[in-house]
Amino acid sequence: MDKIKEVLKLLESEKNTIQDLKSLEEMKVRYMGKKGLISELQAGIKEASDKKAYGMELNTLRNSFLEFYEEKKQAFENSLLEEKLKSEAIDITLPGRKIKKGSLHPMTLITEQFEDLFVSMGYQVYEGPEIESDENCFQKLNIPKGHPARDAQDTFYLKDEVENYLLRSQTSTAQVRAMEENKEKGPLRIVCPGKVYRRDEDATHSHQFRQIEGLVIDENVSMADLKGTLELFCKKVLGEKTKVRFRPSFFPFTEPSVEVDVSCFKCNGKGCNLCKQTGWIEVLGAGMVHPHVLEMCGYDSKKYQGFAFGTGLDRFAMFKYNIPDIRTIYGNDIRFIKEFDRRDV
Ligand code: DAH
Repeated sequence: MDKIKEVLKLLESEKNTIQDLKSLEEMKVRYMGKKGLISELQAGIKEASDKKAYGMELNTLRNSFLEFYEEKKQAFENSLLEEKLKSEAIDITLPGRKIKKGSLHPMTLITEQFEDLFVSMGYQVYEGPEIESDENCFQKLNIPKGHPARDAQDTFYLKDEVENYLLRSQTSTAQVRAMEENKEKGPLRIVCPGKVYRRDEDATHSHQFRQIEGLVIDENVSMADLKGTLELFCKKVLGEKTKVRFRPSFFPFTEPSVEVDVSCFKCNGKGCNLCKQTGWIEVLGAGMVHPHVLEMCGYDSKKYQGFAFGTGLDRFAMFKYNIPDIRTIYGNDIRFIKEFDRRDV
């Protein structure tokens, strides 16, 4: 009996020393293990004089230990769980990592803007191929072999000139395709944006650049329609205050032909370095489709007339976004494209 009391005392004194699950489990072995203190006392019941009292006392000891053990174990496990929850908690207030959104290339922006404008005026977007035949790019536009107008549009020939395939030097070539593809030979109203190629290379000329071409064919189409259309176009793109001027010019596939100038948007026509002190900037070539071109593409030139116009998209982008060197447009430097991130166009 005294032994039990001793162990009870020992148990009480040890209770405060248990700091973690590991020492608690070790304590369990020491008390409840096969050779543990309580098991030893259990064996001593045989020699006890009052077995009943001994048994009861031993029970008290065992219960005291088990109660302590269960309670402590639960507490340790709870605090471990809490710690784990804390360390694994997701902080939902933490701002997420930004996904980098790509931005549209300035040439895409400007092309889409021009397309939208013409689509709103009832035009369709028509795209022709960049590899063209000599016939479509030149001959059917009234530029036969040996014509001096070819000099300004020297381009890249795919095999040799005998093969007659080249990288198109102007989007005007799409006019030919559109007219020939239109089996009814009826009215047409199209814009053709796309890449063109020439043997050029400096700050304002690139061996590849973009143009947009317009073609309207119908009965009773006149120069007045051309003027009205282009005036509207220039004002919409460059601002309502823009003045537009038409100068007589020459293109083999139009007759009469004009060049279109707009009042300089940098100095408002006063004269500056951009407009070379003239107050005007040349932006478009245009004219009434030459009857011979209409006939070559299968149209009855007595019944139908047409007007056409063409302009360089890169030039507009350079003006609009202040791009000093055309080569940056085609350089594929991601820093350049980033400049146009979310820019209002
Ligand atoms: N294709 C001409 C060029 O690249 C531009 C042009 C002029 C287009 C007059 C036209 C036009 O449609 O009528 O220089």
